[in-house]
Formats: sequence, C-alpha cells, structure tokens
Amino acid sequence: MALSKPGPIGFVRSLARILGGRPQVPPSLQDNALLRTLLNRRSVRQFADSPIPDDVFAAILEAGRLAPSTVNLQTWSFAVFDAGEWQGTFGRTIPFHAQRAVIVLGDVHRDKTVLDVFPDSPLVLYTVAVLNAGLAAMAMNVAAEALGVSSVMLSETGRTGLLDAGYLKEMLALPDGVFPLMTIVFGYPRGAYPPMPPKLPLEQICFTGKYREPDPEVMTAWLHQMIAGYKASNLLSSFEAQLHVYQSKIGDAEKDLRNMVFGDAPSPTK
Ligand SMILES: Cc1cc2nc3c(=O)[nH]c(=O)nc-3n(C[C@H](O)[C@H](O)[C@H](O)COP(=O)(O)O)c2cc1C
Repeated sequence: MALSKPGPIGFVRSLARILGGRPQVPPSLQDNALLRTLLNRRSVRQFADSPIPDDVFAAILEAGRLAPSTVNLQTWSFAVFDAGEWQGTFGRTIPFHAQRAVIVLGDVHRDKTVLDVFPDSPLVLYTVAVLNAGLAAMAMNVAAEALGVSSVMLSETGRTGLLDAGYLKEMLALPDGVFPLMTIVFGYPRGAYPPMPPKLPLEQICFTGKYREPDPEVMTAWLHQMIAGYKASNLLSSFEAQLHVYQSKIGDAEKDLRNMVFGDAPSPTK
C-alpha cells in the first residue's frame, strides 16, 4: 500500500504540530517528580563522553531487577556492558557512542531449571517473557531518566539491523529459550532533548465499552507528522525508505527468532 504523503503545506503544518506537542497534564499535577520524569522522557541518540558511574548504573539495573512480572517469574536476563566490554565483545563502539548498554533478553530457560509453569505452550511462554522483559526494560529506562542518564531502546546491536537474534545467540552463547528483545544504550545527553515525536491523542487510543475504529483523519495527520518529522531529522533519507530497510530484514529476523523461541515446536501461525 502506497503511503499517503503530505504536500508542502501539509508538511509545514505537520512540523509545526510536532514542535507544538506537549504532555497534557493538569497544572496541579505538573510538579510531581515521577510524572515529570515519565512525561519528559525522550529517546536520546546523542551522548556526551562522560562515563556513567558504577553506582548509578547499578541503580538502573536494580530498577530492572525489581520490575513486576507474571507470577513473579522474572522471565528476563540482562547482558550488561560498558564501552570497553562492548568493544571487546562486538569489535565496535556502542551504538550512538553511548557509555553503557544492556541487551534485554526474554528468558524462559532459567525458571525451567526448577519448575515448568507453561509446558507445551510456547506462544504463551513467549508472550509472557516478552511482556515481562519489556516492563523491566521500561523500568531501567525510567530509572535512568530519573538519575539524569538518557537512553534509547534499540531493536538491534548494530550488526544486522533487526533484532540480531541469531548473531547474539552465537556471540553471547545463549541457550535455547533465551532470546534478545532489545538493546538499551545509556549515556549523559549531549545537546538539547529532541522534540516529542508525534503521539496519538488520548481519544484515539482509549475506549470505553466496545472497541472504537480509528479515525482516518487523525491517523492520516499522525502519519504525515511521522513522515515530516523523519525528513526534518534525516534530510538524506525518508520514513518510507526506513520502512523498506526494516522490511528487507524481517525475513531473516523471523527465521532466527522462530528457531530460538519455538525450536522444533510447531509454529503458532501454521
Ligand atoms: C522495542 C523498541 C525498539 C526500538 N528500536 C529502535 C531502533 O532500532 N532505533 C532507534 O533509533 N530507535 C528505536 N526505538 C526508539 C523509538 O524510535 C522511540 O521510542 C519512538 O520513536 C518514540 O520516541 P520517544 O521514545 O522519544 O517517545 C525503539 C523503541 C522501542 C520501544
């Protein structure tokens, strides 16, 4: 399906909307420190050279360790790196020259050494692990932000461009049932935070009672903002080109993940 693209006026209007975007919170709640941290958090991709002290990084990991999880199963593992360890393991710098990195993995291997909660239910097991590890990742991301450390979650390590699952299985000697979900890279921000990217309005994502179909006008306005925002920060590329890059890598990523997660079990989509 061809993307609906904004014309020149729509482009300018979309950029103006992005730049005008602000968190919507009643004034009486704006002083709440945690709320401010959550609402002002941004994915940051430019980092200063300053190292993150060990105790600060340890506190970030602790927020991940204490995250909530289904039946408290803690179906995650964190592969942790400073710049030197990353270089030694992967032979390159951490993406965006960040100072620390955590590869967040779904882990249904560890618990199985003592109990088997979902035998023969690979899709349930996978869903639970992804969900829980995602929450741990978010806890680390927010804890970092609260400590003045910025981060961005990445669906890659800089090797294949999408998940890097087969590559990481080999590099990190992952057993069956341990699969990478994302890499979070951390550092002190360099320069101003980027503007808030286009977020859908609350009315578009909430419903009461029965599901409400998306409003085509709101969705098109959002897509136009995505296209305009991407172009403004990547003059030599486009949102569409970036989508094509992802699409070209999905086949391999799908194959690797199926192998790692479901092994010989029948694929849930067949
Ligand atoms: C699971 C996940 C994977 C992501 N992968 C990438 C990535 O590979 N490269 C990147 O630049 N940003 C990546 N991001 C960051 C998103 O692009 C970002 O969260 C989104 O544009 C919204 O911006 P915000 O975090 O500032 O609100 C990822 C985010 C998540 C949650």
